[in-house]
Amino acid sequence: MKNVTPIGLKEWTALEALYEQEQALHLRDLFRLDYSRADRFTLQAAGLCLDYSKNRISMETMEKLFALAKACKLRQAIADMFSGQPINETEGRPVLHVALRNMSGDPIMVNNCDVMPEVQAVLAKMKLFAVDIRDGTWRGYSGMPIRNVVNIGIGGSHLGPAMAYDALKPYTDRNLVVRFVSNVDESDFREQTWDLNPAETLFIVASKTFTTEETMANAGLARAWSLEALRDEKSIARHFVAVSTNAKAVAEFGIDPANMFEFWEWVGGRYSLCSAIGLPLMVAIGPERFMEMLGGFHSMDCHFASEPFDRNMPVILAMLGIWYNNFFGAQSYAVLPYSQNLASFPAYLQQLDMESNGKSVDKRGAKTAWQTGPVVWGAPGTNGQHAFYQLIHQGTKLIPADFIGFHRLPMSGVAQHDKLMANFFAQTEALAFGLTLADLSAGGGVSEYVMPHRVFEGNRPSNTIVADNLTPAVFGALIALYEHKVFVQGVIWNIFSFDQWGVQLGKLLAKKILPELQSEKDVELRHDSSTNNLMTAYRRARRP
Ligand code: F6P
Repeated sequence: MKNVTPIGLKEWTALEALYEQEQALHLRDLFRLDYSRADRFTLQAAGLCLDYSKNRISMETMEKLFALAKACKLRQAIADMFSGQPINETEGRPVLHVALRNMSGDPIMVNNCDVMPEVQAVLAKMKLFAVDIRDGTWRGYSGMPIRNVVNIGIGGSHLGPAMAYDALKPYTDRNLVVRFVSNVDESDFREQTWDLNPAETLFIVASKTFTTEETMANAGLARAWSLEALRDEKSIARHFVAVSTNAKAVAEFGIDPANMFEFWEWVGGRYSLCSAIGLPLMVAIGPERFMEMLGGFHSMDCHFASEPFDRNMPVILAMLGIWYNNFFGAQSYAVLPYSQNLASFPAYLQQLDMESNGKSVDKRGAKTAWQTGPVVWGAPGTNGQHAFYQLIHQGTKLIPADFIGFHRLPMSGVAQHDKLMANFFAQTEALAFGLTLADLSAGGGVSEYVMPHRVFEGNRPSNTIVADNLTPAVFGALIALYEHKVFVQGVIWNIFSFDQWGVQLGKLLAKKILPELQSEKDVELRHDSSTNNLMTAYRRARRP
């Protein structure tokens, strides 16, 4: 694939030509001319239903998009990932988050070694720990049961478990307080711990590398906070556990290696929810529910690995994204879950998608001459309707949107859920079909002056993803759907989706700047004039 650039492919050129023909087609006409359109463009997988009929596509568009996927050797790329090939080439690692939820009983080999026994051993250790915390067997240093679990981590060691905890809150043990500290802004730690009793509080320090500045700084605060109350170094063993790949650094921090839950280099941070990074979630929802969630992930994995492209949900979602991103020139897409419990799903997807595919150099090391990862944004419905939907309906930008809804939700009664879902269905209908000048005139009562402002052009594309209920299994399938979608797009764009070199420079500069801010003397600043001025003003304000 290294020498295959999508733009050079005849399948790409064919899509460019098709775009010229099809861009003016309106969804109103596409639906009017084809009564079976919704059936044609709907499919089920792993408890999810995807209706993608409200997209600006024809059968030919999809055929040509699948032809592009084929030309980009997607089938081989999927097989390479699932079989542990070192596809994260710039870091020389395989990418095997699918092993974390592999329920098939089949081995998965890395360097001639089956990783499944290790995966199962860590899961077993997590289960014992989760049960011990939940039933009060695990005691704090002063003999009190643990009531509060605080996860300290950032990026992939935070967004996944924090989002999943919110999503699955109805299944959590409400006697346990579970909190998440992430930002190096100390306010985060103070806010999350101010009302907690250290004798009843356990910290999970979650960091793949165990070197991340923010997490180490917060873990240091937690240690001091805990020791101030418990007054004995030995208490650390009862109040701190770690989740990491770096046993040495964990031991150096003072956490007993017996209290470390391991994961592996072949698990990317933003793909790590199913690893020990999910520990706070398992404590909150219990091992059984956690396993149900892994089952949902696994069903989507099996679907993705085996179904033909035209029946393959992640592939379809990915190729639709390519259609808008690369041919219509859409810069972003919105994710709009109609579930308050999924409020942080867009933020989670931002890391998943933007850290994976926010690249502008292809696998050959050459600058991409095509657009890659889009901006991901969104908020739960109906809240977003009262904020930014105006722009999606009538603005000048094309914003493809994924609407995610449920037939029922664990904490909602029928009457109010109907209200939520009435909005859900109304929005995709309004986006697709709009409201014409003729409709407005026929309705009467609208002045000619206001009329143009009240026209909805429609033809705004959306996907509708529906599941019966937001269960752990459905949740797992949903996350796996987006993981694989992002992977497929990376394959088409011929970029490395599993590294994140773009986060390094800021980290390095911050390391250089910190001592300059902390120095007692005004050390000479050798930055650009803007940074120098800003830092000087900061230093003056801090030490007048
Ligand atoms: O800065 C980005 C990043 O490397 C993410 O990819 C990762 O999820 C996050 O930092 C946290 O890293 P760690 O788990 O090693 O603390």
